[in-house]
Amino acid sequence: MQILKSHAKIERNVSLLMVLSLVVVLIGGIVEIVPLFYVKNTIEKVEGMRPYSPLELAGRDIYIREGCYVCHSQMIRPFRDEVERYGHYSLAAESMYDHPFQWGSKRTGPDLARVGGRYSDDWHVAHLIDPKSVVPESIMPSYAFLATTQLKADDIAARLSANRAVGVPYTDEMVENALTDMRAQANPDSDGADAVGERYPKAVVSNFDGDAANLTEMDALVAYLQMLGTLVDFETYQAEENLR
Ligand code: HEC
Repeated sequence: MQILKSHAKIERNVSLLMVLSLVVVLIGGIVEIVPLFYVKNTIEKVEGMRPYSPLELAGRDIYIREGCYVCHSQMIRPFRDEVERYGHYSLAAESMYDHPFQWGSKRTGPDLARVGGRYSDDWHVAHLIDPKSVVPESIMPSYAFLATTQLKADDIAARLSANRAVGVPYTDEMVENALTDMRAQANPDSDGADAVGERYPKAVVSNFDGDAANLTEMDALVAYLQMLGTLVDFETYQAEENLR
């Protein structure tokens, strides 16, 4: 009964109630947050993950600018129907270089986390110019202007640096060569094409929009779509014991 009496005291004294509530909430917070200071990494490292190549990064910025995430998720959940339709469920490491991540919250269209390599470049270009030309029942809007809009190139090194500032491991060499790499990835005949593959393993070098003379926003967006979900090799990937 004593305890009930002192509790009555707390309930009648607003300031005391607030202070004690705060203490209780703080304990909960400390228990949850403090352990995170002692783990080196909350994301399991996975072989194959690398920062986006400059052209892919530029494509990703267009993806965000155009609001593709409003209709498309990039997060395959570990449910059987999703895994059978889209492929291996998404790993945390696969979005570790995403600032901001593109998990999305709505699927008006299909998940795009593993769309890379599923269609040809030509298919993507035709689809983005006029979705109904390849998928007659499509309700996706047309993005035809991407094919005629020059890609803004002068700030690409700065974009890499900005990502480096938030923890993406771009090297000085990558930042210095950003502009050449960006042009070279969309032109397989150029001198720098091999260097792109060395700096960014598995980067697809291709004349994405079919027009080698112009570097367009279409080149960048298709380069981005073609790499989605292709970096981790799931033939050899083994989840760490403690995560299974
Ligand atoms: C209004 C909603 C909407 C928006 C916005 C939208 N899409 Fe789509 N998207 C769809 C729908 C619906 C489909 C399925 C029909 C089809 O293939 O066209 C689709 C299909 C796709 C596919 C084929 C996926 C597959 O696995 O078959 C790709 C790739 C794609 N969209 C990319 C994009 C990109 C890139 C953008 C932004 C430039 C975008 N979408 C914006 C609705 C949308």
